[in-house]
Amino acid sequence: MERLQKVMARAGIASRRKSEELIKEGKVKVNGKVVTELGVKVSSSDRVEVNEVQIEREEPVYFLLYKPRGVISSVSDDKGRKVVTDFFPELRERIYPVGRLDYDTSGLLVLTNDGEFANLLMHPRNQIDKVYVAKVKGIPLRENLRKLERGIHLEDGKTAPAKVKMLSVDKKKGTAIIEITIHEGRNRQVRRMFEAIGHEVLKLKRERYGFLTLKGLSTGDARELTPHEVKQIRALAMESANKNS
Ligand code: URA
Repeated sequence: MERLQKVMARAGIASRRKSEELIKEGKVKVNGKVVTELGVKVSSSDRVEVNEVQIEREEPVYFLLYKPRGVISSVSDDKGRKVVTDFFPELRERIYPVGRLDYDTSGLLVLTNDGEFANLLMHPRNQIDKVYVAKVKGIPLRENLRKLERGIHLEDGKTAPAKVKMLSVDKKKGTAIIEITIHEGRNRQVRRMFEAIGHEVLKLKRERYGFLTLKGLSTGDARELTPHEVKQIRALAMESANKNS
């Protein structure tokens, strides 16, 4: 048995707090009866409706995918391109990606059907460190990398300070491999940060998400997260939320 608001949040209806409001407003029915008290618990056999629509209830599942390049971070694509859920053909649960990686970016992506977990990780206040490795055109000056470390102005505002490490340079080809750690998750953020210092990103890979890595996986592989990993990731997001509140 679980609290009604928790079941609603997990189904992706709304945050727990907003779900509580929906309950108080009389918009939620359990087995056909309106419930307005907050203490109610439901089991998997109870039918829950919000605004007259039955919610989907599945056991929560959590996966890590090594996303290849050339795949959309979505559950469907109107142009028929490959999407990240194509890597789970046998799975009955309807999972979706937590955040996104660009079509041309490879690397670590978390997928789940737990709406509350996904919201927690994607909330701007709860951002977890993400480590990317970028191959860029040209060899950036130390001073320009310092700009990324301090935070740089993009059209949607200044970025938070990043950690930047030059891993290698290829003088002949005129390219550099750079590791960059950020905790925000803006659209095309790493590519735009490097563009802002005059370097096009030729290749981008997300290597780490919090403490999760791609260890043991090849491109296109997926594995389930262990219950302990899920707990730890949740704790990490809450910790950063508390720091930033
Ligand atoms: N930053 C980007 O530019 N692209 C991604 O896919 C992820 C982060």
